[in-house]
Amino acid sequence: MTVLAIETSCDETGAAVVRNGTVLSSLIASQIQTHAEYGGVVPELATREHLHNLPSLTRLALESANVQPSDIDLIAATRGPGLPGALLVGLKFAQGFACALGLPFIGINHHEAHLYSAWVRGNPARAEFEFFKPNVSLIVSGGHTLLVHVRALLDHCVLGETVDDAAGECFDKSARLIGLSYPGGPQLERMAKGGNPSAYHFPRPMIEDVTDDFSFSGLKTAVAYFLRDHPDVLNDPEKRRDLCASVQAAIVDVLVSKTVRAAKRVRVDTVTVSGGVACNSSLRQALTESCQQAGLTLRVAEPVFCTDNAAMVGLLAELKAAHGTPPTDLDVEIEPGWSIDG
Ligand code: KG4
Ligand code: ZN
Repeated sequence: MTVLAIETSCDETGAAVVRNGTVLSSLIASQIQTHAEYGGVVPELATREHLHNLPSLTRLALESANVQPSDIDLIAATRGPGLPGALLVGLKFAQGFACALGLPFIGINHHEAHLYSAWVRGNPARAEFEFFKPNVSLIVSGGHTLLVHVRALLDHCVLGETVDDAAGECFDKSARLIGLSYPGGPQLERMAKGGNPSAYHFPRPMIEDVTDDFSFSGLKTAVAYFLRDHPDVLNDPEKRRDLCASVQAAIVDVLVSKTVRAAKRVRVDTVTVSGGVACNSSLRQALTESCQQAGLTLRVAEPVFCTDNAAMVGLLAELKAAHGTPPTDLDVEIEPGWSIDG
């Protein structure tokens, strides 16, 4: 089966072609430059960029996969959750494509697609679903922080999620307070290299809470108060490095501790991780160590499949089609608040 997939839930335009579990092409047009001057994603600009990028990106994805429109069996697109205008562009583009070619269409939940991106490996990248094991999956991005129990392929339930800011948002907002440019997560990680993660103590919100929920807005506020009381830290390169390392350590501690605890409690032996924050090497390292200690197998998505991409959308659509999921109606609408449990 050959699937053309489109992803436009936030600020990355993605187009991909997958065939029988293998990624033939996966292209991304990033909008980071557009949004950087505003310090965050501007929804109206994201919508316009998707409109501008999608036709040529889709053509390129087909060309680089050496696939003709007549070779396509199924079209897939992200239906939600995400920014309404951004989702609308991708969904309607994909439905129009499916309508014109008389092909079936499947609308995909963006988070459900993230759940399986850690199983995509190799060159060419392939979904290693034959190795699938029930797992606890951590999705950590700029918009979401979710812990999900994936009981079997296409069978999952949410264990916990953030009650306020996402982990990536906490990275970005703290980085901004420290004077780093958007998106702050990768910059804060770079700046934390060589810093002492124990130099300053920041709270680990909800780390001992009985639920699997997260909260990160208090941590960002703690960084703001710290800088109000110690403004000199920003003028000293070593202290600035220590500050970045200390903030990063607080975020990583919470994510790792709650993920491993949940995995032990629901008695799975595998942990998977995806989302932009999963690119963070300190998080990857801490998860590797904690999972090893707990006897858990860790699968972190490869960086290109951590961040938003259309390949994960196409692979999930193909999996669903193979499991008998019927096509989605061509007039179905976007679901900006679509819960992964719904
Ligand atoms: O998944 P993603 O590309 O987009 C969505 O939010 O859906 O994630 C972007 C988020 C941003 O908050 C960015 O700062 C964060 O992931 N991020 C990182 C790193 N790379 C990306 N945060 C910490 N360390 C990184 N290396
Ligand atoms: Zn995402």
